[in-house]
Amino acid sequence: EKGGWSSFMAKEISEQPEAVANTLRTRIHDDHVVLPDLAGLEDSLAGIDRIVIIACGTASYAGMLGKYAIEKWARIPIEVQLSHEFRYSEPVLSPTTLVVSISQSGETMDTLMAVKYAIEAGAKTLSICNTQGATIARESDAVIYTHAGPEVAVASTKAFVAQIAALYLFGLHLAEVRGTLSAEATKEALGELSSIPGKLEQVLLTKERIQELAKWMSDSRAVLFLGRHVGYPVALEGALKLKELAYIHAEGFAAGELKHGPIALIEPGQPVFVVVPSPRDPNSLHAKVVSNIQEIRARGARILAIAEQGDAAVLPFADEVIPIPLAGALFEPLLAVVPLQIFAMELATAKGLDVDQPRNLAKSVTVE
Ligand code: BG6
Repeated sequence: EKGGWSSFMAKEISEQPEAVANTLRTRIHDDHVVLPDLAGLEDSLAGIDRIVIIACGTASYAGMLGKYAIEKWARIPIEVQLSHEFRYSEPVLSPTTLVVSISQSGETMDTLMAVKYAIEAGAKTLSICNTQGATIARESDAVIYTHAGPEVAVASTKAFVAQIAALYLFGLHLAEVRGTLSAEATKEALGELSSIPGKLEQVLLTKERIQELAKWMSDSRAVLFLGRHVGYPVALEGALKLKELAYIHAEGFAAGELKHGPIALIEPGQPVFVVVPSPRDPNSLHAKVVSNIQEIRARGARILAIAEQGDAAVLPFADEVIPIPLAGALFEPLLAVVPLQIFAMELATAKGLDVDQPRNLAKSVTVE
């Protein structure tokens, strides 16, 4: 079943272009999002005034990315909560709250219990799920299936990018329902989304280079990941992958937080992955992140930058630059995460570890 691949994870990483393409397929027509999937919410969607996204692990980072995009497009307040924390905060829920759960398996007990809590509290529920007929999907008012295909490796990869694609489709649809985005901006966003599969193919070509890097770094004791805005969840995901697969202490930080604490961790030789926003970023975050790089470089950090192709500003300060194709700011994470997935997999492989079945982890956690 692995085909010619060394692991399911290697296969699933390579399947990411199709995972996104299949999730988008049939859902974009004439510059509009078409989601018959939402029939169960049809009457309530226009009246929703708040969204709470719940998920665990990698799915929760997809949720964070959903928040940036959906808030921007649909102008609706969104909070993202870990499923297992959700109930205990006595969340304020009402019939005009939409609780969006994200789960590859659709069986994660923590997320299922959170969905049940939301239903009992009278909120509306939508699930983003990769498994047809899963329990969470059945419990929810509506489900948008990601069509990533079965994901076997414990650490999630292709399901993650498919979840982002599904959330973005939902966000663009909701923006149309709410009348918050111009037809032109919708068209542009859909164009960006549709171009992701081809760009993912290009990112996958960096594999050999990352393999070399991972081999070279296989005795690392700790690795830090920095990102800002949508690069922040990517940093968190890069760190999670490295913990899960290579058992290396790894932390992701919001780059702006660096001076508020984490910079104390920087000592000579400390490897730091930095997810660099595009120099074309409308929020001008590029310059701020480059200045973060300079700060930690001055303290001896080894900088591994994930940056847009042709970003010359990063070159003088980075030990390694992994280029990603040009994409709109909200779409960069779909590309920037891939080198980090490959890095974790290759480093685990270099350490002789089982990348499909990391110790102590299960693919689907069906206990609370
Ligand atoms: C964890 C897995 O236990 O569950 C992660 O190790 C996954 O890879 C998380 O992201 C959530 O799983 P699911 O099926 O709810 O998306």
